Amino acid sequence: MAIRTILKMGDPRLLAIAAPVRRIPSPELETLLTDMLDTMAAHDGAGLAAVQIGVPLRVVVFGVSCNPRYPEAAPVPLTCLINPVITPLGAATEDAWEGCLSVPGLRGLVPRHAAIHYIGYDAAGRLIDRSVTGFHARVVQHECDHLDGILYPRRLRDLRQFGFVDALTTARPA
Ligand code: NI
Repeated sequence: MAIRTILKMGDPRLLAIAAPVRRIPSPELETLLTDMLDTMAAHDGAGLAAVQIGVPLRVVVFGVSCNPRYPEAAPVPLTCLINPVITPLGAATEDAWEGCLSVPGLRGLVPRHAAIHYIGYDAAGRLIDRSVTGFHARVVQHECDHLDGILYPRRLRDLRQFGFVDALTTARPA
């Protein structure tokens, strides 16, 4: 178990395109996932990408049961997702407030696909294949953006809907 340092926006490693994992399962992957889950839990995160702890691989973890950072979010199963691929379902988008452990203290109103299909592999190499909506779809899109070097501020449509959590009066977590 290890809680790792989370890179913050401005670190060029957060802008890199992450590489696919070539071998599943592996002891190295197990250790990485354990560290990611420990780090996410320690920061009350809803999700974390490997790139955020400086590991440039296409690995994300996410999950929400009862999260003080997202008190109104619907539950999302705790998931380790490797080499994910997302396909939007339909053209509909929806706006909701997002934060990111690499952008501490801030929230922004981000448009995302309302419904997506995603596939990937779990730590044992089993296929994960889900169609999801709402907060679950949002978290997956946010985390997979990290794998392509995209932080949510690049998705903002209106910079007036972006600010510090303790100053925003309209921001409500998704
Ligand atoms: Ni993030």
